[in-house]
Amino acid sequence: MPVSGPLPFSQASENNKLPIMGVLQRHLQDRTTVLEIGGGTGQHAEFFSSQLPQLVWQSSDVPDQVETLNLRIAAAKNANLPAAIAIDVDEADWNSRRFDAIFTANTLHIMSQASVTSLFKGLCQSIQLGGLLLVYGPFKYRGDYTTQSNARFDLWLKQRDPSSGIRDFEWVNELAKGAGFELIEDNAMPANNQLLVWRSVST
Ligand SMILES: C[S@@+](CC[C@H](N)C(=O)[O-])C[C@H]1O[C@@H](n2cnc3c(N)ncnc32)[C@H](O)[C@@H]1O
Repeated sequence: MPVSGPLPFSQASENNKLPIMGVLQRHLQDRTTVLEIGGGTGQHAEFFSSQLPQLVWQSSDVPDQVETLNLRIAAAKNANLPAAIAIDVDEADWNSRRFDAIFTANTLHIMSQASVTSLFKGLCQSIQLGGLLLVYGPFKYRGDYTTQSNARFDLWLKQRDPSSGIRDFEWVNELAKGAGFELIEDNAMPANNQLLVWRSVST
């Protein structure tokens, strides 16, 4: 695909990619395939694939975002970064093979609760037994925001789209358990975010 004009850009992705990389490095250094859900601008895919050259980083997004995502992926020309594929977590069949790990950033508070439920249902078809699920973003714990700024962010999200919003860690962890994952880490990250890591113990 020819690339013209500025590539899609998110300042938040630029700010969080290094701290996220620190966690990914520990978990993904011996893995060979990763599926990314909701790749957005492709900045994460470009950076993480360049830092983890031993693995293939397969990014994806909803069908109408894939072309945008592929602008940066095509420009990056990283050998281990194939063109993004279309995955809408609301579709029952993701039509994907199984991966060693699944990564998603800043998606659970954008999707509706029904879509988050669909995401966890769909994960089972795309993860190897023993595979890792890494989810980055803001969460509430026991119904409380971790900071006032996350409370304001949640209000802003809901004004924009009432079906969106910061999710309860406990609810997400129950979905993960139901999908055959056990929590192995909850990393506090800069800017009031978490990076949660689960391992698939049954598929
Ligand atoms: C806030 S952006 C985050 C993009 C990127 N991961 C990042 O951290 O910069 C949310 C992403 O979730 C994707 N998304 C929303 N609904 C989705 C769905 N039903 N299935 C898959 N991806 C979805 C959007 O298209 C968008 O790329």
